[in-house]
Amino acid sequence: MKSTVMKSIVIKEPNTLLIEERAIPEPAENQVRIKVQLAGICGSDSHIYRGHNPFAKYPRIIGHEFFGVIDKVGDGVNSKRIGERVSIDPVLSCGHCYPCSIGKPNVCETLEVLGVHTDGGFAEYVAVPADNAYPIPDTITDECAVTVEPYSIAANVTSHVHPTKEDVALVYGAGTIGLTCAQVLKGVYQVKTLIVVDRVAERLARATACGADIVIDNSQIPLPEQLKALNIRPTVVLDAACHPSILQEAILIASPAARVSIMGFSSEVSSVTQQSITSKEIALFSSRLNAKKFPEVIDWIATHKIDPTKILTHKFVFTDAQDAISTFEKDQKTCCKILLTF
Ligand code: NAI
Ligand code: MN
Ligand code: ZN
Repeated sequence: MKSTVMKSIVIKEPNTLLIEERAIPEPAENQVRIKVQLAGICGSDSHIYRGHNPFAKYPRIIGHEFFGVIDKVGDGVNSKRIGERVSIDPVLSCGHCYPCSIGKPNVCETLEVLGVHTDGGFAEYVAVPADNAYPIPDTITDECAVTVEPYSIAANVTSHVHPTKEDVALVYGAGTIGLTCAQVLKGVYQVKTLIVVDRVAERLARATACGADIVIDNSQIPLPEQLKALNIRPTVVLDAACHPSILQEAILIASPAARVSIMGFSSEVSSVTQQSITSKEIALFSSRLNAKKFPEVIDWIATHKIDPTKILTHKFVFTDAQDAISTFEKDQKTCCKILLTF
């Protein structure tokens, strides 16, 4: 007889991670059930584990970066989809509120994110809306397919700033998000000059591998000073480090007519002057999650414009999730994207 239970990674309450048996979910109408193969660990998984995510409710099956195979479909879904390899967009939106109506389901009035507001993909099976499961072509490996979500963050923020071949782009942070942004800026938009800034030499080395023309370590000498010496004024600035103090610095280092985007969720005040923005007519953006960017990212991977293998560093069996998350938290030098196998 086929088993009716599965193992899942549950955060019972902050700082308590359990491998728990749950009933295998049944796909509801317009849903598909995914047999999960691979999942990626993200900062937000660690934040939910440690009790630092303001949106999380417990207990919760975490995980919003996952890839698998459709093994069952609910009513209203073509049964031909069974067997399809899919990556799952974790953004759940209503489809009819104001932001949804203008193409921003990522900030839907009733937004829910799989693995944050509802149970996610760190489980052997998960049922999700069929429309959120995007088919992956055979030419893309499982390991690359599981990274579509982090690249969708980069696809979203870059779509706001419209990079061109004339741009000098600067990215703060060489973590997963900074590196996906770097790859998209260079590989997709072919910006003229790409600068990545971080404080960790090993991470800056990865940025060079991801297409950075110049890497800057700002741990000792402030970035504005180093840019001045190089006579560089970036025309696009993306903040993928997200300390609240960065916004004012980003505006000050930017060229007149530059576009600047933030991505952070800090509740602390960022101080900025109107003068520093208006005198240069800086365009300020913010970016959250992704607005249906999965097809675009899948195409970029298939056509080798971006290369996920450059950010993959570790693999753990999912039952060792606790070790995987601890490694992710402790080892900034060697870690970028850690995958869990199911
Ligand atoms: P991460 O912690 O791996 O990377 C951040 C990097 O920034 C680190 O390498 C750190 O050394 C560097 N850094 C910190 N302060 C710096 C400074 N002042 N100057 C230069 N570098 C500095 O984090 P990850 O996963 O890459 O995420 C980055 C940020 O993006 C997080 O704050 C996260 O909350 C946010 N995020 C936002 C999303 C959105 O949709 N808006 C989605 C995903 C992440
Ligand atoms: Mn993520
Ligand atoms: Zn909506």
